[in-house]
Amino acid sequence: METKTRKSNLIMQPNYKNWMPKGLVVGALAGSLGCLVLFLVFGMSGLIAAGVLKTVLKILFLVLAIVLSLATLWMWLMYRAFSYNGKRQMSRRIIEGVAERVTVPYGGWGLDVGCGSGALTIAVAKRNPNALITGIDRWGKEYASYSKSLCQENAKAEGVSNIRFVKGNALRLDFPDEMFDAVTSNYVYHNIPSRDRQAILLETLRVLKKGGTFAIHDIFSHINYGDMQAFVQKLKDMGYEEVELIPTDDGTFMTPWESTWMMGRGSAILQGKK
Ligand SMILES: C[S@@+](CC[C@H](N)C(=O)[O-])C[C@H]1O[C@@H](n2cnc3c(N)ncnc32)[C@H](O)[C@@H]1O
Repeated sequence: METKTRKSNLIMQPNYKNWMPKGLVVGALAGSLGCLVLFLVFGMSGLIAAGVLKTVLKILFLVLAIVLSLATLWMWLMYRAFSYNGKRQMSRRIIEGVAERVTVPYGGWGLDVGCGSGALTIAVAKRNPNALITGIDRWGKEYASYSKSLCQENAKAEGVSNIRFVKGNALRLDFPDEMFDAVTSNYVYHNIPSRDRQAILLETLRVLKKGGTFAIHDIFSHINYGDMQAFVQKLKDMGYEEVELIPTDDGTFMTPWESTWMMGRGSAILQGKK
């Protein structure tokens, strides 16, 4: 019995899933195949429809099949680039690259907003073994494969115990002002429907202690965030130090070409000290 438990502990591997959900890739593939079949049935055979209707259905299902096939190809390329097991390992590189930019003091507290499968929370906890790191996420339907229990299993598989995961909303963090010594986040806020994402950043920084560090990686394009240079200046005027918006789509985490086809143009780290 004991040998069995030890064996299963030895083979326990974290599963951080993929930022491109597998279900979405499979769904798009099934959709494109379905449209191809319908194109053949309705458009080619002449069994069910004839005349103008046949022509309309033929064009409709052919266009849908092409569009969905291209979408499947794009999603699969994204899935492959993000995979933790593949060659490119872009996600791992981003996670490590963000985690290394904050330091949590001995006995201090760190917060990771929108932790998903726990990858960044765990990376920060590993680098700061004498601190307690909290990961929060709303674990909604859009990333159905992520959950609190998955985060806990991943932490266990990585042998990390200075960590906890809590359900929460980035728009209104359930923590008092200045509670944490460091805050991190990766590719979360651009997903949140909001007219004012700078306000979400301020909500994250609200819970950061004076002197605490932050590293927030996201797609900081103008369309997502408005004028980020003005925001950097605003933080400096508020007394924040060493505030920088460092591009990561210049080869740091991804090449300019990758960021273009992956729609990650504008990816950058907002980092600094409160
Ligand atoms: C692309 S995933 C990134 C997950 C994780 N940060 C990582 O790097 O692996 C985006 C995450 O943001 C979370 N999220 C979206 N809106 C949120 C909100 N309002 N509050 C908290 N988490 C949110 C999603 O549930 C999802 O887990």
